[in-house]
Amino acid sequence: MSLIYRLKIFLLRVIGYEKPLRVAILKYFTIKFRQFRPHYETIMLESAIEAKKLNYDEITFIELGVAGGNGIVALEKYKTKIQKIYNIKIKIFGFDYGEGLPNSENTFDLKYAISEGDYKIDKNKLSEKVGTKIFFGDAKDSLDEFVRCNPKNIMGIFFDMDFYTSTKNFLDQLPKFEKFLTPRVYCYFDDVFHDNLCVDEHSGERLAIKEFNKKNTKTKIGYSLDHINNFRFPLGKNLIYIMHNFEHKDYNKYIGIDNSESLGLDDNKTRAKIF
Ligand SMILES: C[S@@+](CC[C@H](N)C(=O)[O-])C[C@H]1O[C@@H](n2cnc3c(N)ncnc32)[C@H](O)[C@@H]1O
Repeated sequence: MSLIYRLKIFLLRVIGYEKPLRVAILKYFTIKFRQFRPHYETIMLESAIEAKKLNYDEITFIELGVAGGNGIVALEKYKTKIQKIYNIKIKIFGFDYGEGLPNSENTFDLKYAISEGDYKIDKNKLSEKVGTKIFFGDAKDSLDEFVRCNPKNIMGIFFDMDFYTSTKNFLDQLPKFEKFLTPRVYCYFDDVFHDNLCVDEHSGERLAIKEFNKKNTKTKIGYSLDHINNFRFPLGKNLIYIMHNFEHKDYNKYIGIDNSESLGLDDNKTRAKIF
């Protein structure tokens, strides 16, 4: 491609970009610095805040698909900070094949964009860098070992296994891990959008979510409307779903901010929270 043509495409893209450019700059930082993940940090932070309201003293996060470990390194960094601020214990677990992606015969696994052998892990390097327990092998087969660790109050799941089948097979195991879930679990789905992958509701993670919701009545994975009042998840809000566990004993426990004085003439409390 000639330089002039590249420049033309670049300008078209910059001028036609619908979001303020500062968003693109923040996104650029996450590409340049792979362990800078404002969305991971805010999911952990919001979870800790909700956990305190629910009187939980320990919460658990899972990353499904670890690859080189940048996500886990970021999570460990945020964990250290948030544990201290909120006086809460945070545990993290990771799942990964370990040997790179295997071959898949499933048409819905986005095979046109992801190939066999991608994301092999240097396990020695990773274990030098992180203390997180990582279950190697197919995530669906590691679940029994995981639940034996008694993971208290799973409050966030970072789904990043790319394949429809991997996501579906994990979600299908809900009966094994549902008793460890909190009333509402933040579910970050890394692959519900991808600029190169043409992902939509007919394949990949979104198909797995759709089938999960069709199959389950007590537990649903939902997507909140994007809204101007939502300041909480920089760069992540379109990728964050909530897993509702409607029959959880604490599902209806009040975690709101209102009381009998709320919305009175003297009430100055801000409801759309920036901090
Ligand atoms: C895109 S990478 C994950 C990137 C990582 N989360 C990060 O933020 O750097 C996807 C990973 O998912 C893993 N994976 C896919 N399906 C899996 C399965 N069924 N069980 C375990 N790991 C799986 C692959 O081995 C691969 O390392």
